[in-house]
This record gives sequence, C-alpha cells and structure tokens, in this order.
Amino acid sequence: MSGFEPHPDPDAVIRQAAGLVDEILAAERAEPVKLTPEPEDAIRDLRLAIPELGLGDAGAIEALRRVMLATPTSAGPAFFNQLFGGREPVATVAEIAKAVVNSSMYTYKAAGVQVLLEQKLIDHMLGFAGWQGGDGLFTPGGSMSNMAGMIIGRNEVLEGSREAGLSVAGGGDRLALYVSEESHYSVRKSAGMIGLGRDSVRFIEADERGRMIPARLDDAIERDLARGMRPLMVVATSGTTVMGAFDPIDAIADIAHEHGLWFHVDGAFGGTALLSPDHRHLMTGLDRADSFTWDAHKMMGVPLVSSVCLTREPGLTTKHFDESASYLFQQDSDDLNPGTRSIQCGRPNEAIKLWSLWQALGDEGYAARTNRQIDLARYVADRVRADDDFVLSCEPEWATVCFELKGKPSDAICEALDDRQLAKLGFGIVKGRRVIRLVTVNPHLTEADFDRLLDQIKRVGAGLSEADNAVAAAAAR
Ligand SMILES: Cc1ncc(COP(=O)(O)O)c(C=O)c1O
Repeated sequence: MSGFEPHPDPDAVIRQAAGLVDEILAAERAEPVKLTPEPEDAIRDLRLAIPELGLGDAGAIEALRRVMLATPTSAGPAFFNQLFGGREPVATVAEIAKAVVNSSMYTYKAAGVQVLLEQKLIDHMLGFAGWQGGDGLFTPGGSMSNMAGMIIGRNEVLEGSREAGLSVAGGGDRLALYVSEESHYSVRKSAGMIGLGRDSVRFIEADERGRMIPARLDDAIERDLARGMRPLMVVATSGTTVMGAFDPIDAIADIAHEHGLWFHVDGAFGGTALLSPDHRHLMTGLDRADSFTWDAHKMMGVPLVSSVCLTREPGLTTKHFDESASYLFQQDSDDLNPGTRSIQCGRPNEAIKLWSLWQALGDEGYAARTNRQIDLARYVADRVRADDDFVLSCEPEWATVCFELKGKPSDAICEALDDRQLAKLGFGIVKGRRVIRLVTVNPHLTEADFDRLLDQIKRVGAGLSEADNAVAAAAAR
C-alpha cells in the first residue's frame, strides 16, 4: 500500500481485535511461559524495524499478531514474577473499551461521565483510608503516586516553594527525608527528580520482618537536627516490595507529628489491606498520615496502570497541581475538570477498569478476594516451613513468600525455571541473602499451582551444576 486514504471500513478492522484476543488467550493456555528469544533474533524474525512502505491494515495486524504471540503474558498459571499478575475479565473488557472511546480526562467536555465515575471511585477509596472529604488523583503507577505525595508534602512543608522553588528552604542540601531500608526505589528516585536530592534520603533500619524501626527513625531525625539539617518528610511503606512488610504507621505518625514532618504512606502493594476487615489492622494509624499511594494494578487485579495518590486534607491537588490554560479549560466548573488538578494533561481514564471490577465484586467481594491472596501466601509458607529442603526467610505478612532451597542459588533457580519454560519467578535480598520471592497476588491460582511450582523448584535445583552450587554456598549478594 502507498500513501494515505480515508479508511473505507474502520469498524471491520477494529473487530479483528476479538480474534486476536482469542488467539492470545489460547496461546497463553498452551504455553504459559514463553521462551525468551535473543534480542537480535527477535528483531529480525519479528521484523520489528519500521518499513518505508506501509504494510496496510492486514499486514500491520499480522505483524501485531506475531509480536503479541511472542510476548510473555502475566496471567497464566506459571506467572509468579512481579507484584501484579492474573487477569480479571471484567477489568480487561473495561481496558479494551477504554481504548476504543479514547477520552482524555482533563475536562468534562472531553470525558463526560467518566469524570464523575473517577471522582466517585476516589471518594470511595478515601472512605477506606478514613479520609472522607479528602482529595486524590489517579496517576500512571505507584512511583508517580509516591512522587505526587512527595511534591505535595514538599510544597506544604516548605511554604512558598511551589512559586519560588527550593530557595525558600535556604539551600537544598540541608533537607532530609526518611524511609525504611526496605522501601521501593521510587522514593529516592523522586527525591532526585523533585529537587530534594537523592543524598537527602536517609534509609532507616528495618527489623527482622522488614518493618522500619521507629526508634531508629527518631535517632536519625535528632542527629540531622543536631547537624542543622531540615527534616522534611517521612515515607512509611505498607507492603514492602520483597518481604511484604508493613511499617508501624501509628508509631511513625507520632514521630512525624512531633517534628512537623509530612507523612506519606507508600501502600502501592499493601494498601489493598484496607479492603479486608481481616487485614486492615496492618494499616492502623493511616488516618494520621497526610498522603497515601495505593495501586489498583497490583493487588486489585486490574490491568496496568492504575494507581491513586490520596490526601487527608481536601483541596491539595488543586493547590499544588493547578495551572490555567484558556485553550483547554473553557467550560464547566473546575470540579468537573480534573485536568485542573492532575499531573498529566492528556490522560486516559485509569479508573474505569477498577470501577468496573468493583461493580462486579462490590466491597464484600473485594474483601474476600484480598483474603484469598493472603491465604495463598500462608499456604505456601506452611508448605515451605514443613519441608526440610526449604528455608523460609521470613514469616509472610502479605502476598509474597521469601525462601531458599537449601544449598542452591536462588537466582540460578529462577533463571532455569524461565529457560525451561516452567515458571516466571524472581529473587530478592532478605537479610543479605538472595532468596526466591514468590508472589501470590493472583487469587485465581490454586494450591495445586503452588504445589507444582515448589516441586519444579526442587527438580530444577537438583539439576544445577556444582559451579552453581558453589555460588550458593557463598550466597550473599
Ligand atoms: C512498595 C512499592 N512502592 C511503589 C512501587 C512502584 O509502583 P509502580 O510499579 O506502579 O510504579 C512498587 C512496585 O513494585 C512497590 O513495590
């Protein structure tokens, strides 16, 4: 095909998506773990280069088909790799429908009722946080929600900094912020991106379960004050990335309040505990924090990406993110135009998939779904504890189980499982040791899926070479 012409029948092309989806699902069932190709082979075999002459719709859809069928999916019975996984069909349908509508969430004029449902959802989530009447915004992920909370905190503590910049603090090098040594890397990364400086971050020691030790936090703040530094904020983690640990929010709130610090809680992974009466206690004290990250694309089963940053006080998103633009905000009041208080300009509705699934499950269903995820972690931990070939690295508090196969290197096991197309699984560091981190966020997996995985780990471990085992013996980092 050459040139460009208006399409004679665009709907017919779009309808081909259904067939492609069917093929992807069938391929996932037939081959849950895709073989990872060598990059050069994939670029050549899948013809990834952009052609000078267009392939036309049929050619492009065939190219897309090749690529999608070669791509690992994250919903099969052998995916235990990251903090998301599984597929909730209703949320997937919403995501596909969203792409067809393709509205942008800056104005009521552009997005219509989608604006209303996003706000309803934010209000509902604020209720779970104990922050009725507070504020919040959807962002493209937990890293961005952490950054949003940190920007709001920076501006609130350093009054005038939104307008005048960090000069109001009298020199950025004097600032300090605090987070546990088990925290997610996005906190330090954001500190570097928003002018606080990566060197301003103090990593506070965690206990044997991976929870920040409040007394160490207090010591660090006192030490910085004595040096003439300016403590700014503390970030607690609810559900750390590897161990799934919950920092003691109440005790940290005492310290944050005593020193006038902004208190952000990173619940990207563990915020979903709020949905379950059985697990909500892990976040006791959240009502005393200032801002809160909560990812829906991790524990809540919706496709990437969907995350919120909530604030206890109303009006903070407008106060810190608003900007006027006569070419955009032309009608309706600001409360109907979320673009006046978001980080992005053009923005897809990342709330729609969560709203749809919440319609299906209700609060009650979400509580049961969350309990199932944690029950699976406890099941795996029990199996590991009862088996002399394994060592449980720490008692799971959330939806990860960290353990080792005795005398075998965790990284080599994970790599071998992937190479042999048995499972996608990752490793992490616990107490200085490389351990297998098994994730139980997919509540549609069965106990039998985990039994099979543990057997596979043993079989793969038994087949590792002496050289691999020598590495395990030295196994630190
Ligand atoms: C504790 C924690 N916070 C933040 C993030 C970042 O979330 P996202 O991947 O949505 O940016 C993660 C990701 O794993 C996480 O584990």
